[in-house]
Amino acid sequence: MIWNRRTTNYWPDTKCAKAFWSQHELPPYRQLLADTTARLAPQAGERWLDLGCGRGMLTKGIFQDSCGTVAEITGIDIAPVNAQAYDKLSRELKAQPGQIRFVAGDFLDGLRQFASGSVDGIVSGLALSYAESLVDGRWTTSALDRTLAECRRVLAPRGRFVFSINVPEPAWGTVARDCLTGVWSRPRPHRYLVKAWRIWRYGGWLKREARRGRFHYLSAEALRAKLLAAGFPEVDIALSFSGQAYVVTCRPTARSVAA
Ligand SMILES: C[S@@+](CC[C@H](N)C(=O)[O-])C[C@H]1O[C@@H](n2cnc3c(N)ncnc32)[C@H](O)[C@@H]1O
Repeated sequence: MIWNRRTTNYWPDTKCAKAFWSQHELPPYRQLLADTTARLAPQAGERWLDLGCGRGMLTKGIFQDSCGTVAEITGIDIAPVNAQAYDKLSRELKAQPGQIRFVAGDFLDGLRQFASGSVDGIVSGLALSYAESLVDGRWTTSALDRTLAECRRVLAPRGRFVFSINVPEPAWGTVARDCLTGVWSRPRPHRYLVKAWRIWRYGGWLKREARRGRFHYLSAEALRAKLLAAGFPEVDIALSFSGQAYVVTCRPTARSVAA
């Protein structure tokens, strides 16, 4: 990676990762978390992946919704510091050794560690947009397309893939307005506002990079087309996160699952 203005990536940085650890305190994110976990229905003995897992709020949801009976949840994230959050989460939830795992790396590097058809469920929260690919000096969607195809490859025939992704040109102002609802009734309003601001200041970077095609905030139609191309003909899309993100549920058909 060449570190210049054109390619600087804040996601692997500890400071950026830790700023997003507070995301679950924001009402729009809490709604998104609820809307996403409501679609998962994890079962005993299942194997799950959480792509771009951050501190692991969706991993926690899977574990709790299954009453701790899933076989394994692996969080994959490009920020190594999230390993600390996973260690803590594993202790808090009293998970068995190896039941909650963290892999530091890019989506594709993480997915390639799994055999075809070996995963029952994949979840991802506001992360897949950041699959970046610079080809001959131009940003392309190739990494996102390959990530979606890898998700299809690793999923078992009855597997499900649930993810959230920001809408095109997300109105961060709307999210911020909804974050401010009831702020003064919070025990520590100042602390809450500082945490919200730490996340908010990455918004300009994300939107700017999406405009030039580095990150991918896609329309529902574009998402459907990409998912169909990756082998997910069954797709359900709903709005959440103050109307600024889609929650997407996909299932591979038996025909489209790699042997
Ligand atoms: C907006 S945060 C969401 C975190 C978490 N899913 C949640 O819901 O709180 C996006 C996450 O995607 C991760 N990420 C960004 N690009 C990535 C990549 N290419 N491969 C793996 N993780 C990535 C970031 O490190 C960050 O943790």
